[in-house]
Amino acid sequence: MKVFINKNIPQTGITMLNEAGLEIILPEEESLSYEEWLNYCKNTDTILSIGAEFKYDKNFFEACPDVRAIALYSVGFDHVDIKEANSRNIPVGNTPDVLSKATSDVAFLLMQSVARRTSYNFQKVKDGNWGAFDPLHALGQELYGKTLGIYGLGRIGFEMAKKSRKAFDMNILYHNRHRNDEAERELGATYVSFEELVANSDVLSIHANYTPGQKELFDRFVFEKMKSGAIFINTARGGFQNEKDLYDALVSKQIWGAGLDVTNPEPMLQDNPLLELSNVCVLPHIGSATMEARNGMARRAAENIIAFSKDEKMPYCVNP
Ligand code: DGY
Repeated sequence: MKVFINKNIPQTGITMLNEAGLEIILPEEESLSYEEWLNYCKNTDTILSIGAEFKYDKNFFEACPDVRAIALYSVGFDHVDIKEANSRNIPVGNTPDVLSKATSDVAFLLMQSVARRTSYNFQKVKDGNWGAFDPLHALGQELYGKTLGIYGLGRIGFEMAKKSRKAFDMNILYHNRHRNDEAERELGATYVSFEELVANSDVLSIHANYTPGQKELFDRFVFEKMKSGAIFINTARGGFQNEKDLYDALVSKQIWGAGLDVTNPEPMLQDNPLLELSNVCVLPHIGSATMEARNGMARRAAENIIAFSKDEKMPYCVNP
């Protein structure tokens, strides 16, 4: 069985595939154009897929009728048309759990970074404008005892809630498709409606799976209902936020600040006005960028491919 991998992954995954006797096709180019990527896909039956740059949509499946399985090197699968995959009996694997701690760490650091005005203060240092100690200047806010609202309380949201509870004794509100008994029991989390979440959170952090129905859910109508001292954090998918509305909410001090590890589009355009704001911290989608998480993802993806090669169900499969 041939496995096309569009970009190199940690050796642990490659070794597992080699030991399973699978043939690996790994292009020498650092990055592929859409046409080049499609050509590789047309000539393989299994894909270990890195990144969300190219979509697995109807066009893809029609162009690549020989593809029989896709193992994503991500937990998110919003770049795959699952209905199309289902209609062709193509299993789609992902990499849950192994990146939950790392991704929630980034949400947690963005929350603190925005609360303590890191972008503003770092810029002052870079500008040679450190200044004398001033009791009234550069004041941030403390998170102790404040309310964290989690939109989408799955594995990553749970880890974010746990850290925030332990470190800052934050109250946890959440809105989710289903109640999360573990979070309610262990963290005292309270399930609320979307409207209550928005209105009562001092920090609102997105951890949901992205679907087209949630496109720009966080827009001016939501931002204007948030508290004036609220912090908006997104480490899930950039599609959740209307960036123009977010900019307006930040400039007008409708909300305190925003921490984004994901933007729309990615990479964020350099002339995006959000980058001019000192109450914004933007990171280049590094949620899972630790050695531990990326090794874990390589193992999960390889396990999925190997199971498929033995006619077994992928252990981490997002479709039936
Ligand atoms: C994921 O796993 O979905 C992360 O966003 C990395 O792409």
